[in-house]
Amino acid sequence: MSKEKKKRLDRESLQKLGGIFNYVWPYKGKFIVGLVLLFISSSVFMVFPYVSGKLIDLAQGSQNWFIDNIGNATLFLLGILFIQSIVSFFRVILFAQVTENAMANVRTDLYQKLMTLPISFYDQNRAGDLISRISNDVSILQTTFSTTLAELLRQFIILITGVTLIFYLTPSLSVFMLATFPVIVIFAIIFGRFIRKQSNKTQTELANSNVIVEETIQSIQAVKSFTSELFEIARYKKAMGSVVNTALKVAWYRAAFISFIIFMLFGGIVAIMWYGARLVQHGEMTGGELIQFILYTMFIGASIAGLGDLFAQVQKAVGASERVLEVLQENPEWQPDDQIDEARLKGSIGFQNINFAYPTRPEVEVLKNVNLHIEEGQKVALVGHSGAGKSTIVQLLQRFYNPNEGEVQVAGVDIQDIHLQSLRKHIGTVPQEVILFGGTIEENIRYGKPEATKEEVIEAARKANALDFIEGFPEGMETTVGERGVKLSGGQRQRIAIARAVLKDPDILILDEATSSLDAESEHLVQQALNDLMKGRTTIIIAHRLATIRSVDKIYVLEKGDIVESGSHDELVNQTDGAYRNFIDLQLMES
Ligand SMILES: Nc1ncnc2c1ncn2[C@@H]1O[C@H](COP(=O)(O)OP(=O)(O)O)[C@@H](O)[C@H]1O
Ligand SMILES: [Mg+2]
Repeated sequence: MSKEKKKRLDRESLQKLGGIFNYVWPYKGKFIVGLVLLFISSSVFMVFPYVSGKLIDLAQGSQNWFIDNIGNATLFLLGILFIQSIVSFFRVILFAQVTENAMANVRTDLYQKLMTLPISFYDQNRAGDLISRISNDVSILQTTFSTTLAELLRQFIILITGVTLIFYLTPSLSVFMLATFPVIVIFAIIFGRFIRKQSNKTQTELANSNVIVEETIQSIQAVKSFTSELFEIARYKKAMGSVVNTALKVAWYRAAFISFIIFMLFGGIVAIMWYGARLVQHGEMTGGELIQFILYTMFIGASIAGLGDLFAQVQKAVGASERVLEVLQENPEWQPDDQIDEARLKGSIGFQNINFAYPTRPEVEVLKNVNLHIEEGQKVALVGHSGAGKSTIVQLLQRFYNPNEGEVQVAGVDIQDIHLQSLRKHIGTVPQEVILFGGTIEENIRYGKPEATKEEVIEAARKANALDFIEGFPEGMETTVGERGVKLSGGQRQRIAIARAVLKDPDILILDEATSSLDAESEHLVQQALNDLMKGRTTIIIAHRLATIRSVDKIYVLEKGDIVESGSHDELVNQTDGAYRNFIDLQLMES
């Protein structure tokens, strides 16, 4: 199903296309030579019908031309074709060189922009939509610059020279032709568009039925455990039914269209031949001139028909360039050529009067006047019920979002004044849901420090309590994980994440429910590795389990974005009716 919307072609929209043209501009030399070649090949092509007509006249004994025998005229025709083929060859190569390079640059720029855009941008745009901009939309632009614009120019040349030539050669027949033939062609175009719209409906129906397939295959376990296979089969069958219905309706139109084309379009040509034949009969034109005329007429007809499609293509391209430019004009959170200060982030962390709402939901205050203070090397726990704002606090520390009010400080400096890359380089996270990339275990661990040696990777895995299970796989470190590879358990993924963090060697460590979804045995292994990892690092721990929280230096209790209590475990646990005490009691009841 095509998502591309057609755009009106006005000045503003053409300017948008012009914005993309900036990418073609560096290759302007080749582009202009390509255009000249195109002009030559189209013009030479227009000589073809003329010479064909002359050939017939020569065959009938007329000698009023600078070539006076059939053999030479044929050679002349072949010569035209030869020039045409050589010129077209280089034109296609040149246009390919220009557009392939230009569009690769568009894609690279888009990707660079996507990589450097803030998380808030991703909250507001669907992944599928962004992917389609970098793939489909750029492909549309590519076709436009490599073929559509060229074709457009060619068809214009054919149309204008064609009409001029026939008027010059045989005016009376031209008037007759122009009164009939273009009308039929334009009617055919409109009819054709209507049919295309109808077939789009079939495509939509088909896409709907594919949604059923996609959803159910992706969640096949759920389907089976609810024993809803038959229900889904029936649903799919019904969707197929409406696909067939729509498709058959379209087939009626298509059949009518084809009959129309056969009868009317070729009927039009027959009418012209009839009129022309009478002119020949009365000696008002030669047989060769009639042939010329008919060939030109067909060229003109084809170019009128082609122009409709080409305009639609340009409209699509305008929409595509709009979507591409929209991303290119977004503000990145940092520039790839920024100077980055590699200095470590030793020092305390402070949140001062932080108020925050997510940009997508500005009316919901997620953090309300939050104040935190963490000394260098301290371990601090954030506790509170789900949705209280714990993860949001660590998101702000990494500057995935900026607070609406207040200041987040590291080592006494507002993090707005620390380069994003140096901030994030020195913060390590072990989340609850570890994302592994498709690739080997070694590559996944190395993600924490791309330049690490093999020994460092192995050492990191050992420190993360991961080496044993990794070496248990026949392929060891080379084992492929991710979507096409081995499925790792939660605890194993967690330990890979810890190994990554060991390699990254961050100054600040964030453990966001790192052990929350683990069974007792892997929790023990993971916890051991985490304890090691935490040594000497300022650490923020988000956890539920008493065992984890108990040993920290300070606990902050969050309720609905508000810090309601803070202190050590011993201080807080004795406050009967205190928020922490209630929280702990609940946790104990649950476990
Ligand atoms: N990306 C987001 N966009 C909008 N709202 C969010 C986003 N992430 C979290 N929230 C909301 O912010 C609140 C706090 O969430 P979070 O910090 O994840 O809670 P916790 O980690 O304490 O469970 C919740 O109400 C949640 O729905
Ligand atoms: Mg959370």
